[in-house]
Amino acid sequence: MKILAPSILSANFADLLTDVKRVEAAGAQWLHLDVMDGHFVPNISFGPAVIKALRPHSGLFFDVHLMIEQPDKYIDAFVKAGADMIVIHQEATRHLHRVIQAIKAQGVQAGISLNPATPVNTLVDIIDQLDMVLLMSVNPGFGGQSFIEHTYRKIKDLKELIEQRGLATKIEVDGGVNLDNAAQLVDCGVDVLVAGSAVFGAADVAERIVQFHSRMKR
Ligand code: DX5
Ligand code: ZN
Repeated sequence: MKILAPSILSANFADLLTDVKRVEAAGAQWLHLDVMDGHFVPNISFGPAVIKALRPHSGLFFDVHLMIEQPDKYIDAFVKAGADMIVIHQEATRHLHRVIQAIKAQGVQAGISLNPATPVNTLVDIIDQLDMVLLMSVNPGFGGQSFIEHTYRKIKDLKELIEQRGLATKIEVDGGVNLDNAAQLVDCGVDVLVAGSAVFGAADVAERIVQFHSRMKR
């Protein structure tokens, strides 16, 4: 089952719950929540309070992407806020193994994200511990950027590593995903597609979700 995870970074922050309910009603199963601290990335979005406020109103799987320095300090807060998956950045985390264990010890799924210039082989000693790897296909910080083509090679490298080890680790791709590249990404082995502007920028958000799902069916 391939998963679409609409990113609320491109939703209407003045009426966030309406947008969340809209994608849920249209058949999305995951929601991608981009947390930015203004240090790791040059933008500030929202923190655990917003996630906690949405949690009681949605049955979606909350996929929390932490684009923050020192994520270890905030794991408890995001667990309490209701995250189902917490993804930390390889480049922002000094003790990756420790933080991944801390997330999993709380009964939450754990993933690591790689920036476009960070090679897949930086994960060889931690991949066995991960529920998911998120490959950034734009430089993190903003929605609406263009897909970086060398991501396809990284997906291939990651897929090979996961298969060699016999793991069930999911592959998620985030940034510049749209109706034109969704099918190719799924064919390359991506399990979870994040889409922000391609979903919330559509005139009819519900119809756009249906279009994504039909292109992701292979
Ligand atoms: C970017 C975020 C993405 C963002 C993607 O730093 O991690 O999740 O919302 O936006 P689009 O789909 O518009 O590229
Ligand atoms: Zn993201």
